[in-house]
Amino acid sequence: MGKTLEAFIFDLDGVITDTAEYHFLAWKALANELGIDFDRDFNEKLKGVSRMDSLDLILEHGGKREHFTPEDREKFAAQKNNHYKELIKNITPNDVLPGIKTFIEEIKKNGFKIGLASASKNAFTVVDSLGLTESFDTIVDSAKISKGKPDPEIFLTAAKQLGVKPEQCIGIEDAASGVDAINSAGMFSVGVGDHEILSHANLVFSSTSELQLKTILKAFNENASISEPLEA
Ligand code: BG6
Ligand code: MG
Repeated sequence: MGKTLEAFIFDLDGVITDTAEYHFLAWKALANELGIDFDRDFNEKLKGVSRMDSLDLILEHGGKREHFTPEDREKFAAQKNNHYKELIKNITPNDVLPGIKTFIEEIKKNGFKIGLASASKNAFTVVDSLGLTESFDTIVDSAKISKGKPDPEIFLTAAKQLGVKPEQCIGIEDAASGVDAINSAGMFSVGVGDHEILSHANLVFSSTSELQLKTILKAFNENASISEPLEA
């Protein structure tokens, strides 16, 4: 028997709302203060990655990894987070990315469950400001996750919380690390963004406004019948 689809598990930053841009701005301001610069290409490495891991990548990029004590690093991470929290203060339901609301409604109408698997400790606040808390059947608390993306832990936890098997899930991500996490979890991966950056995904859409449930279901079913051939 082929796999049956039960749930969609969303990333938040860069998929549901454009907070990926706020993370970029806040990290860049901190890095510049430390005499480190980075561009949008390097920023792709930070997407989906936890706060402390992102800081380490930036310090390493600037050749300053060994210059700071663990206390300094805690202080820098808190500084970035305070700046980020300023930037997300004015988020409203109007900040949900184009097409996402109707896509979520369509998913629900078709009887699938919806989970959120964001690495962000600010996820509950952001989802609340967007007015979407009720749309999710479950939201993973990233504070309880020990291994960040690309490790599959957060997606596997979302599936567990939803009471479904990983192979019954579709994960949606804007980050390469997130797509790798979905794939390692044994789920079907949908990328939103640059096709080259998200080349590991099973299916990629250039933007959220292009997300099409019909196209995704077709690709999922085709994939399911390839990976699980019908019994003779
Ligand atoms: C992810 C973002 O969703 O959350 C990363 O893509 C961010 O850029 C990570 O570093 C952790 O977020 P926070 O809000 O806990 O610092
Ligand atoms: Mg993201």
